[in-house]
Amino acid sequence: PAYENIKIDVVGSKKNVGLIQLNRPKALNALCKPLFVELGKAVTDFDSDNSISAIIITGNEKAFAAGADIKEMQNNTYSDNVRAGFLREWEDISNCGKPIIAAVNGFALGGGCELAMLCDIIYAGEKAKFGQPEINIGTIPGAGGTQRLPRYVGKSKAMEIVLTGNFIDAYEAEKMGLVSRVFPVEKLLEETIKLAERIGTHSPLIVKLAKQAVNQAYETQLKAGLQFEKSIFYGTFATADRREGMTAFVEKRSPNFKNE
Ligand code: HXC
Repeated sequence: PAYENIKIDVVGSKKNVGLIQLNRPKALNALCKPLFVELGKAVTDFDSDNSISAIIITGNEKAFAAGADIKEMQNNTYSDNVRAGFLREWEDISNCGKPIIAAVNGFALGGGCELAMLCDIIYAGEKAKFGQPEINIGTIPGAGGTQRLPRYVGKSKAMEIVLTGNFIDAYEAEKMGLVSRVFPVEKLLEETIKLAERIGTHSPLIVKLAKQAVNQAYETQLKAGLQFEKSIFYGTFATADRREGMTAFVEKRSPNFKNE
């Protein structure tokens, strides 16, 4: 399909990495509804494409995304938001079963920071800037910023970020645990592709189960999460890939996973 607000590509030496680039550079990739409809479709299509192992979402050097589109929502009323289920397209991202990695250069603000946090792993370029500046425009984060950010960085830092609207740089974000690694700007995408390729060497079936299990840590209390983990762990013993993985280890050879 021809997209207007994003660009998609399939990358990696095995052509198994789905790359999505947000592409509204003049608006610093502000996340308007048409962009999110396209992003949701691209993610859903890669998720159901058996040749794809992992998905990358990126922006450009100036901006990952500078937030929800302020011009688009400026005149919304409370009733409009409730009637339309404003931002409901965002759930397409959290419903994806495959790993999604955010490669963040430049601004990841407001909804841009929230989109990065909807992904499973965040890699950043040295010049990245994160923030939840909604408070500056008289609102609060609306796509997980008040819920996911404290789970990444703890209450005091999350409060500081949400209540001041101040930006944090890539190294601070790494120190806080929001970002897992920081790279020079021009190396970010290739390093992110390497990460996706590394994930792509594993059984897609087991990768999907592992992602579900880690996500339980964010979605349930510890006891329920541990029960979920145990049942997924037991469940891997019903798969051919688990048998192959352990057999290959014992036979001192590489596993040949079949996604079964
Ligand atoms: C609409 C935006 C935008 C946004 C930037 N632009 N951010 N348009 N929505 N979120 C547009 C500007 O209006 C401008 O358009 C062009 O992009 C370039 O931006 P400048 O401001 O000229 O760039 P610069 O001076 O470099 O400043 C960069 C910036 C600033 C610091 C990132 O643009 C900024 O503060 N943006 C808003 C950040 C923000 O508040 N985000 C949270 C949004 S609320 P023109 O046409 O003038 O060239 C939010 C709610 C989340 O995300 C709720 C759930 C999703």
